Amino acid sequence: RAELARRIDALLRTVPDYPEPGVLFRDIMPLLADPDAFAEVVATFATDVPGPVDLVAGMEARGFLLAAPVAIALGAGVVPVRKAGKLPGPVATQSYALEYGSAAVEIQPSTIPDGARVLVIDDVLATGGTAAATVELLETCGATVVGLAFLVELEALGGRAMLPGRFVDSLLTLP
Ligand code: PRP
Ligand code: HPA
Repeated sequence: RAELARRIDALLRTVPDYPEPGVLFRDIMPLLADPDAFAEVVATFATDVPGPVDLVAGMEARGFLLAAPVAIALGAGVVPVRKAGKLPGPVATQSYALEYGSAAVEIQPSTIPDGARVLVIDDVLATGGTAAATVELLETCGATVVGLAFLVELEALGGRAMLPGRFVDSLLTLP
């Protein structure tokens, strides 16, 4: 486990002032490009799940790349959680606050059977705004969120506090 965290850490690229001045961006692309590390990450997410899963929800855009292979590994389906305006309706929408302004995520409720057990996956847990909005959206649509999984948790941004009482799995925690 510690070994996997070290491996992820070694494969992250840290980019200062991207996409805006003052942001220290953690780029996961080198990890996705490493066949063994990518496979190990997917297998670990699939092993860590706290119970049966019907659907894996991945957040646009990098969450898609992780959710799909984890869904296959679990024998589950995929729900893309998209930024507003990208999915044909009917859609359910949840807005959330950004540092400046707001954003919104959407899903198609027709793809979520009532009571479906959903695992939420994304690359990075930062402020937690995207993850909290995704949980709210899924549960409004009748899903049961069994947990959330992230490749990287940026602890200083406090995202975990936005997910009280939830099972939150992060493969690498950065201070
Ligand atoms: C990033 C990341 C998460 C979210 C985390 O996505 O992939 O989805 O931000 O931030 P938060 O915890 O503060 O909400 P981004 O908005 O950059 O979208 P992209 O993957 O489409 O580039
Ligand atoms: N990397 C990737 N996604 C992010 C980051 C980051 O550092 N911060 C917020 N979303």
